[in-house]
Amino acid sequence: MTLRADPLMSDPPWAGPPGFGIGLRRIDPAGWLEGGEARPWARKDALLKRVPRRVWGEVEGSRPGQAEAAALVAGALGIRLPGEDLPPLLWAARRVPDDLVLMESREGDWTATALSLCAGSFFTADQALGRSLEALHHPVPGFANDLLLRVRRIFDNLPAGAVVERRNWTVTAQGDLHAPEAAAARALAARRRPDGSGRGFFVRCERQTLRRLPETGGVLFTIRIHLRPLQALAAEPPALAAFGQAWAAAPADFRRYKGLAAVAPGVEAFLSANPPETAARPSQGAFP
Ligand code: HEM
Repeated sequence: MTLRADPLMSDPPWAGPPGFGIGLRRIDPAGWLEGGEARPWARKDALLKRVPRRVWGEVEGSRPGQAEAAALVAGALGIRLPGEDLPPLLWAARRVPDDLVLMESREGDWTATALSLCAGSFFTADQALGRSLEALHHPVPGFANDLLLRVRRIFDNLPAGAVVERRNWTVTAQGDLHAPEAAAARALAARRRPDGSGRGFFVRCERQTLRRLPETGGVLFTIRIHLRPLQALAAEPPALAAFGQAWAAAPADFRRYKGLAAVAPGVEAFLSANPPETAARPSQGAFP
Protein backbone atom coordinates (compact mmCIF):
# COMPACT_ATOMS: atom_id res chain seq x y z
CA MET A 1 0.00 0.00 0.00
CA THR A 2 1.30 3.49 -0.85
CA LEU A 3 0.79 6.15 1.78
CA ARG A 4 -0.43 9.44 0.30
CA ALA A 5 1.74 12.41 1.24
CA ASP A 6 -0.01 15.04 3.35
CA PRO A 7 -0.64 17.97 0.95
CA LEU A 8 -0.49 20.42 3.82
CA MET A 9 3.04 19.31 4.60
CA SER A 10 4.22 19.17 0.99
CA ASP A 11 2.85 22.67 0.26
CA PRO A 12 2.51 24.39 3.64
CA PRO A 13 0.72 27.74 3.90
CA TRP A 14 3.35 29.01 6.32
CA ALA A 15 5.90 28.90 3.45
CA GLY A 16 4.39 32.11 2.01
CA PRO A 17 5.51 35.66 2.68
CA PRO A 18 5.40 36.63 6.40
CA GLY A 19 2.59 38.77 7.83
CA PHE A 20 -0.88 39.64 6.53
CA GLY A 21 -1.51 39.58 2.82
CA ILE A 22 -4.00 38.90 0.06
CA GLY A 23 -2.13 35.78 -1.11
CA LEU A 24 -4.75 34.74 -3.66
CA ARG A 25 -3.91 32.33 -6.44
CA ARG A 26 -6.05 31.01 -9.24
CA ILE A 27 -6.67 27.28 -9.11
CA ASP A 28 -8.13 24.75 -11.50
CA PRO A 29 -11.94 24.79 -10.92
CA ALA A 30 -11.80 20.98 -10.91
CA GLY A 31 -9.95 21.22 -7.56
CA TRP A 32 -12.41 23.70 -6.02
CA LEU A 33 -13.88 21.49 -3.26
CA GLU A 34 -11.38 19.09 -1.74
CA GLY A 35 -13.84 16.67 -0.15
CA GLY A 36 -12.34 14.05 2.12
CA GLU A 37 -14.86 13.96 4.99
CA ALA A 38 -17.29 11.06 4.76
CA ARG A 39 -20.22 12.55 6.70
CA PRO A 40 -19.83 16.32 7.15
CA TRP A 41 -23.53 16.61 8.01
CA ALA A 42 -23.06 14.52 11.14
CA ARG A 43 -20.53 16.99 12.60
CA LYS A 44 -22.52 20.01 11.40
CA ASP A 45 -25.97 18.81 12.48
CA ALA A 46 -24.75 18.22 16.04
CA LEU A 47 -23.56 21.83 16.26
CA LEU A 48 -26.68 23.13 14.61
CA LYS A 49 -28.70 21.44 17.31
CA ARG A 50 -26.47 22.55 20.20
CA VAL A 51 -25.49 26.13 19.20
CA PRO A 52 -27.65 27.09 16.19
CA ARG A 53 -27.00 30.83 16.10
CA ARG A 54 -23.25 30.35 16.40
CA VAL A 55 -23.09 28.15 13.28
CA TRP A 56 -25.86 29.28 10.94
CA GLY A 57 -27.53 32.51 9.86
CA GLU A 58 -29.24 34.13 6.89
CA VAL A 59 -30.67 37.57 6.25
CA GLU A 60 -33.88 38.28 4.41
CA GLY A 61 -33.51 38.37 0.66
CA SER A 62 -30.53 36.01 0.53
CA ARG A 63 -32.41 32.93 -0.72
CA PRO A 64 -31.81 33.57 -4.48
CA GLY A 65 -28.05 33.89 -3.86
CA GLN A 66 -28.15 30.85 -1.58
CA ALA A 67 -29.92 28.86 -4.28
CA GLU A 68 -27.29 29.79 -6.85
CA ALA A 69 -24.50 28.87 -4.43
CA ALA A 70 -26.19 25.53 -3.69
CA ALA A 71 -26.50 24.82 -7.41
CA LEU A 72 -22.78 25.47 -7.84
CA VAL A 73 -21.93 23.06 -5.02
CA ALA A 74 -24.38 20.44 -6.31
CA GLY A 75 -22.82 20.72 -9.77
CA ALA A 76 -19.30 20.28 -8.39
CA LEU A 77 -20.36 17.23 -6.36
CA GLY A 78 -22.42 15.78 -9.19
CA ILE A 79 -25.54 15.56 -7.03
CA ARG A 80 -29.08 16.81 -7.51
CA LEU A 81 -30.54 19.80 -5.79
CA PRO A 82 -32.91 18.84 -3.00
CA GLY A 83 -36.59 18.83 -2.61
CA GLU A 84 -35.71 19.42 1.08
CA ASP A 85 -37.10 22.30 3.00
CA LEU A 86 -33.74 23.61 4.24
CA PRO A 87 -32.26 27.00 3.38
CA PRO A 88 -30.24 26.21 0.23
CA LEU A 89 -26.84 27.30 1.59
CA LEU A 90 -27.34 25.12 4.65
CA TRP A 91 -28.31 22.21 2.43
CA ALA A 92 -25.07 22.67 0.46
CA ALA A 93 -22.89 23.14 3.55
CA ARG A 94 -24.11 19.86 5.06
CA ARG A 95 -22.65 18.05 2.05
CA VAL A 96 -19.11 19.44 2.18
CA PRO A 97 -16.44 19.70 4.85
CA ASP A 98 -16.07 23.42 4.12
CA ASP A 99 -17.92 26.27 5.76
CA LEU A 100 -19.84 28.37 3.24
CA VAL A 101 -20.33 32.13 3.33
CA LEU A 102 -22.53 34.02 0.87
CA MET A 103 -21.23 37.54 0.26
CA GLU A 104 -23.57 39.95 -1.49
CA SER A 105 -23.50 43.63 -2.26
CA ARG A 106 -25.86 45.46 0.09
CA GLU A 107 -26.04 49.23 -0.05
CA GLY A 108 -22.75 49.25 -1.94
CA ASP A 109 -20.88 47.11 0.61
CA TRP A 110 -19.92 43.44 0.31
CA THR A 111 -21.83 41.84 3.16
CA ALA A 112 -22.19 38.34 4.66
CA THR A 113 -25.86 37.60 3.92
CA ALA A 114 -25.89 33.88 4.80
CA LEU A 115 -23.35 31.55 6.34
CA SER A 116 -22.86 28.09 7.67
CA LEU A 117 -19.82 28.29 9.95
CA CYS A 118 -19.17 25.12 11.93
CA ALA A 119 -15.38 25.43 12.07
CA GLY A 120 -15.01 29.17 12.54
CA SER A 121 -11.56 30.21 13.65
CA PHE A 122 -12.37 32.31 16.68
CA PHE A 123 -15.56 33.90 15.34
CA THR A 124 -19.18 32.80 15.01
CA ALA A 125 -22.00 33.03 12.49
CA ASP A 126 -24.02 35.47 14.59
CA GLN A 127 -20.98 37.75 14.88
CA ALA A 128 -20.41 37.71 11.10
CA LEU A 129 -23.97 37.78 9.73
CA GLY A 130 -24.89 41.09 8.09
CA ARG A 131 -21.36 42.44 8.49
CA SER A 132 -19.46 44.18 5.70
CA LEU A 133 -15.92 43.26 4.64
CA GLU A 134 -14.71 46.24 6.61
CA ALA A 135 -16.54 45.28 9.80
CA LEU A 136 -15.57 41.61 9.49
CA HIS A 137 -11.91 42.56 9.30
CA HIS A 138 -12.00 45.29 11.95
CA PRO A 139 -9.69 43.29 14.29
CA VAL A 140 -7.06 42.61 11.59
CA PRO A 141 -4.18 45.09 12.00
CA GLY A 142 -3.80 47.46 9.05
CA PHE A 143 -6.63 45.85 7.06
CA ALA A 144 -8.65 49.05 6.64
CA ASN A 145 -5.59 51.02 5.48
CA ASP A 146 -4.13 48.63 3.02
CA LEU A 147 -6.03 45.46 2.21
CA LEU A 148 -9.67 46.54 2.28
CA LEU A 149 -9.68 48.42 -1.05
CA ARG A 150 -7.85 45.57 -2.75
CA VAL A 151 -10.22 42.95 -1.34
CA ARG A 152 -13.27 45.00 -2.39
CA ARG A 153 -11.82 45.27 -5.90
CA ILE A 154 -11.34 41.49 -6.01
CA PHE A 155 -14.99 40.99 -5.02
CA ASP A 156 -16.11 43.53 -7.66
CA ASN A 157 -14.05 42.02 -10.46
CA LEU A 158 -13.89 38.29 -9.81
CA PRO A 159 -14.73 36.71 -13.19
CA ALA A 160 -17.41 34.03 -13.46
CA GLY A 161 -15.87 30.58 -13.69
CA ALA A 162 -12.61 31.54 -11.97
CA VAL A 163 -11.72 29.93 -8.64
CA VAL A 164 -9.21 31.66 -6.40
CA GLU A 165 -7.71 30.29 -3.22
CA ARG A 166 -5.89 31.75 -0.23
CA ARG A 167 -4.51 30.08 2.86
CA ASN A 168 -3.40 31.17 6.29
CA TRP A 169 -1.96 29.53 9.38
CA THR A 170 -1.71 29.86 13.11
CA VAL A 171 -0.76 27.70 16.08
CA THR A 172 -3.29 26.90 18.78
CA ALA A 173 -3.78 24.61 21.74
CA GLN A 174 -7.40 24.07 20.62
CA GLY A 175 -7.63 20.77 18.78
CA ASP A 176 -11.30 21.05 17.70
CA LEU A 177 -12.51 22.21 14.29
CA HIS A 178 -15.24 24.21 16.04
CA ALA A 179 -13.18 26.88 17.80
CA PRO A 180 -15.40 29.91 18.28
CA GLU A 181 -13.45 31.63 21.06
CA ALA A 182 -9.87 32.89 21.00
CA ALA A 183 -9.89 33.40 24.77
CA ALA A 184 -10.72 29.73 25.39
CA ALA A 185 -7.89 28.65 23.08
CA ARG A 186 -5.45 30.92 24.88
CA ALA A 187 -6.54 29.60 28.27
CA LEU A 188 -5.93 26.05 27.04
CA ALA A 189 -2.45 27.04 25.83
CA ALA A 190 -1.59 28.46 29.24
CA ARG A 191 -2.31 25.04 30.80
CA ARG A 192 -0.02 23.09 28.41
CA ARG A 193 3.45 22.07 29.56
CA PRO A 194 6.14 23.27 27.12
CA ASP A 195 8.15 20.03 27.34
CA GLY A 196 9.57 20.05 23.78
CA SER A 197 7.28 17.28 22.53
CA GLY A 198 4.82 19.71 20.91
CA ARG A 199 2.03 17.64 22.46
CA GLY A 200 -1.22 19.60 22.87
CA PHE A 201 -0.38 22.15 20.17
CA PHE A 202 -1.76 22.24 16.64
CA VAL A 203 -1.10 24.08 13.41
CA ARG A 204 -4.44 25.40 12.24
CA CYS A 205 -4.71 26.37 8.58
CA GLU A 206 -7.61 27.77 6.62
CA ARG A 207 -7.99 27.10 2.92
CA GLN A 208 -10.37 29.71 1.54
CA THR A 209 -11.81 29.99 -1.94
CA LEU A 210 -13.89 32.57 -3.78
CA ARG A 211 -16.29 32.05 -6.68
CA ARG A 212 -18.57 34.45 -8.45
CA LEU A 213 -22.31 33.68 -8.61
CA PRO A 214 -22.96 35.11 -12.09
CA GLU A 215 -26.77 35.23 -11.95
CA THR A 216 -27.30 36.92 -8.60
CA GLY A 217 -23.92 38.72 -8.64
CA GLY A 218 -22.76 37.48 -5.21
CA VAL A 219 -19.60 35.67 -4.23
CA LEU A 220 -19.40 32.30 -2.52
CA PHE A 221 -16.57 32.19 0.05
CA THR A 222 -15.55 28.76 1.32
CA ILE A 223 -13.40 28.03 4.36
CA ARG A 224 -11.86 24.62 5.04
CA ILE A 225 -9.88 24.04 8.23
CA HIS A 226 -6.89 21.73 8.32
CA LEU A 227 -5.57 20.90 11.78
CA ARG A 228 -2.35 18.98 12.36
CA PRO A 229 -0.58 18.18 15.63
CA LEU A 230 2.57 20.28 15.90
CA GLN A 231 4.39 17.00 16.50
CA ALA A 232 3.64 15.95 12.90
CA LEU A 233 6.18 18.53 11.71
CA ALA A 234 9.00 16.53 13.28
CA ALA A 235 8.54 13.89 10.57
CA GLU A 236 8.45 16.47 7.73
CA PRO A 237 11.86 18.20 7.53
CA PRO A 238 11.09 20.65 4.66
CA ALA A 239 7.76 21.68 6.25
CA LEU A 240 9.49 21.99 9.64
CA ALA A 241 12.24 24.14 8.11
CA ALA A 242 9.66 26.44 6.49
CA PHE A 243 7.74 26.57 9.78
CA GLY A 244 10.89 27.50 11.73
CA GLN A 245 11.50 30.35 9.29
CA ALA A 246 7.86 31.51 9.37
CA TRP A 247 7.82 31.45 13.16
CA ALA A 248 11.01 33.52 13.36
CA ALA A 249 9.90 35.95 10.62
CA ALA A 250 6.35 36.57 11.93
CA PRO A 251 5.97 40.34 12.42
CA ALA A 252 4.94 41.70 15.82
CA ASP A 253 1.41 42.74 14.74
CA PHE A 254 0.81 39.26 13.26
CA ARG A 255 2.03 37.58 16.48
CA ARG A 256 -0.14 39.82 18.61
CA TYR A 257 -3.24 39.36 16.45
CA LYS A 258 -2.87 35.57 16.35
CA GLY A 259 -2.13 35.41 20.08
CA LEU A 260 1.11 33.56 19.41
CA ALA A 261 2.52 34.62 22.81
CA ALA A 262 0.17 32.08 24.43
CA VAL A 263 1.61 29.17 22.44
CA ALA A 264 5.19 30.48 22.16
CA PRO A 265 6.64 28.51 25.12
CA GLY A 266 5.31 25.24 23.66
CA VAL A 267 6.33 26.03 20.08
CA GLU A 268 9.78 27.27 21.01
CA ALA A 269 10.46 24.25 23.22
CA PHE A 270 9.36 22.04 20.32
CA LEU A 271 11.65 23.87 17.84
CA SER A 272 14.59 23.58 20.26
CA ALA A 273 14.00 19.85 20.61
CA ASN A 274 13.56 19.46 16.82
CA PRO A 275 15.89 22.04 15.28
CA PRO A 276 14.79 22.77 11.70
CA GLU A 277 17.28 22.90 8.86
CA THR A 278 17.25 26.21 6.98
CA ALA A 279 15.14 26.24 3.81
CA ALA A 280 14.44 28.65 0.95
CA ARG A 281 11.07 30.40 1.22
CA PRO A 282 8.97 29.94 -1.93
CA SER A 283 6.85 32.92 -3.01
CA GLN A 284 3.03 32.78 -3.28
CA GLY A 285 1.13 33.40 -6.48
CA ALA A 286 -0.56 36.77 -6.91
CA PHE A 287 -4.11 37.65 -8.03
CA PRO A 288 -5.34 39.22 -10.21
C1 HEM B 1 -10.13 38.17 -0.80
C2 HEM B 1 -10.79 37.81 0.29
C3 HEM B 1 -10.25 37.98 1.69
C4 HEM B 1 -9.00 38.31 2.13
C5 HEM B 1 -7.77 38.64 1.31
C6 HEM B 1 -9.05 38.30 3.58
C7 HEM B 1 -7.99 38.57 4.41
C8 HEM B 1 -7.97 38.34 5.77
C9 HEM B 1 -6.80 38.43 6.59
C10 HEM B 1 -5.40 38.83 6.11
C11 HEM B 1 -7.16 38.10 7.84
C12 HEM B 1 -6.26 37.95 9.05
C13 HEM B 1 -6.02 36.46 9.29
C14 HEM B 1 -5.37 35.81 8.08
O1 HEM B 1 -4.16 35.93 7.96
O2 HEM B 1 -6.10 35.24 7.27
C15 HEM B 1 -8.59 37.84 7.81
C16 HEM B 1 -9.35 37.51 8.90
C17 HEM B 1 -10.71 37.37 8.87
N1 HEM B 1 -11.51 37.36 7.77
FE1 HEM B 1 -10.92 37.69 5.89
N2 HEM B 1 -10.31 37.95 3.98
C18 HEM B 1 -11.09 37.76 2.86
C19 HEM B 1 -12.41 37.43 2.82
C20 HEM B 1 -13.20 37.28 3.91
C21 HEM B 1 -14.62 37.00 3.86
C22 HEM B 1 -15.47 36.82 2.61
C23 HEM B 1 -15.04 36.90 5.13
C24 HEM B 1 -16.46 36.63 5.51
C25 HEM B 1 -16.82 35.94 6.56
C26 HEM B 1 -13.89 37.10 6.00
C27 HEM B 1 -13.89 37.07 7.37
C28 HEM B 1 -12.79 37.20 8.16
C29 HEM B 1 -12.84 37.09 9.60
C30 HEM B 1 -14.10 36.91 10.47
C31 HEM B 1 -11.54 37.21 10.05
C32 HEM B 1 -11.10 37.17 11.50
C33 HEM B 1 -11.23 38.54 12.09
C34 HEM B 1 -11.04 38.45 13.59
O3 HEM B 1 -9.91 38.27 14.03
O4 HEM B 1 -12.03 38.56 14.30
N3 HEM B 1 -12.80 37.32 5.21
N4 HEM B 1 -9.05 37.99 6.53
